[in-house]
Amino acid sequence: MTMPFLLSASILSADFATLGDQLAQAQAAGCDWLHIDVMDGHFVPNITMGPFIVATCRRASNLPLDVHLMIEKPEQHIEAFAKAGANTLSVHIEGNPNIHRTLQSIRALGCKAGIVLNPGTPASAIEAVLPWVDMVLVMTVNPGYSGQPHIAEMSTKIAHIRQMLNQRSSPALLEVDGGITAQTLPACYQAGANVFVAATAIFQHPQGIAAGVRALRSVVP
Ligand code: DX5
Ligand code: ZN
Repeated sequence: MTMPFLLSASILSADFATLGDQLAQAQAAGCDWLHIDVMDGHFVPNITMGPFIVATCRRASNLPLDVHLMIEKPEQHIEAFAKAGANTLSVHIEGNPNIHRTLQSIRALGCKAGIVLNPGTPASAIEAVLPWVDMVLVMTVNPGYSGQPHIAEMSTKIAHIRQMLNQRSSPALLEVDGGITAQTLPACYQAGANVFVAATAIFQHPQGIAAGVRALRSVVP
């Protein structure tokens, strides 16, 4: 069986002065999803975007919106992000004692539910909630900023989670996020990931967005 290969363009490195045009370029170049990094200055040091930007992307593009919540108490905000037009809402396992309820609430709002693991969190941490997730997101950097170096050692964890999903015949997607480039993508793909987030490699490619997407696509047969 050939695995789907999806590219999710993280708008964190886009030029917000011309956001609509940047999103159109990413879509024309063949990006499958838009990845929106929501940071609250508490769960991670940085502060970025809220539901307003998700609604802006919803108006500007018809691509699925892949919303990555790096915030404390995500359960208090999921409804606002769902109403803004998110398709997938991903929440971290770390610091979320009621994660099972939150994942169920995400599905009840009509969104796909994703569970995210930081680099320091073992694969086993998400085992109990796998029946309630549509996607697992393995962070290959510590969350907070784009442009950080990829942590190659995470491929062991990706492979472990791929095995956990296969053992359960789970249809959940396996996404990776952090330092994904044409150089780092192949090892993640070989380990079993099938959705690839990239900010810098797409929006900051020296030859432009289309060249960035082409470079990432060219490394997978
Ligand atoms: C990091 C974010 C990532 C980030 C990726 O906290 O979750 O989605 O935008 O940026 P690059 O692709 O530059 O590592
Ligand atoms: Zn992200």
